[in-house]
Amino acid sequence: MTQGRSAARWDREFGAGKYAYLHKPAETARLAEIAAMVARSIAENGPCEVVDIGCGEGLLLERLAGLAISRYVGVDISAVALSRLPASAIPVTRVRRALARWDGGPAPEGRRVIVASEVLYYDTQGVAQLQRVVAAGGVAEIIVSCVGGRADKPNWTAASQRLWAQLAATGWRLVERRYLADRASGTGWDLARYAV
Ligand SMILES: C[S@@+](CC[C@H](N)C(=O)[O-])C[C@H]1O[C@@H](n2cnc3c(N)ncnc32)[C@H](O)[C@@H]1O
Repeated sequence: MTQGRSAARWDREFGAGKYAYLHKPAETARLAEIAAMVARSIAENGPCEVVDIGCGEGLLLERLAGLAISRYVGVDISAVALSRLPASAIPVTRVRRALARWDGGPAPEGRRVIVASEVLYYDTQGVAQLQRVVAAGGVAEIIVSCVGGRADKPNWTAASQRLWAQLAATGWRLVERRYLADRASGTGWDLARYAV
């Protein structure tokens, strides 16, 4: 099994408020940068649909308002997280599924941009699972966010190094890369957009 923590654990933790930190300003700035990457993708290539893998409570969805997005598909292992997706003018589809078990459905509707934000390191085969979905067709771009390494968090450092090495090995074309830092906490995030 590659999918990491169980759905029940994610549900329990969302219920207990463990991921409330994702509403903090530094995380909000990170999500705003992902939305800006989606906006640049649209400016360069035209309208798209967004598939947000590990969408959580849909904090990215809130930041996509006003963009030329035909549909937002939120894929998440947690029913509790999915139940909290906000109302949106963008048509929303919820898929309760672990990435390893996701078949790519519903079928792509136009140009598909996948966002995998702070989720791939929960599954050691996460990048391979994305490659499987890409091989099925219809995916145009992939946007990844991953918390950076920290001296006091050796597991974060190892996960970040492994993830970016796996992404580099895919052969996907790097379109842009960003680094965001939160000086107060010493946490940083690497973000990248790939054409596949
Ligand atoms: C740290 S939160 C990130 C939420 C949001 N993407 C963000 O950037 O703020 C991780 C999310 O990924 C989901 N998740 C964890 N493992 C998953 C898996 N194997 N497949 C799908 N979703 C998963 C969790 O339920 C949770 O909503």
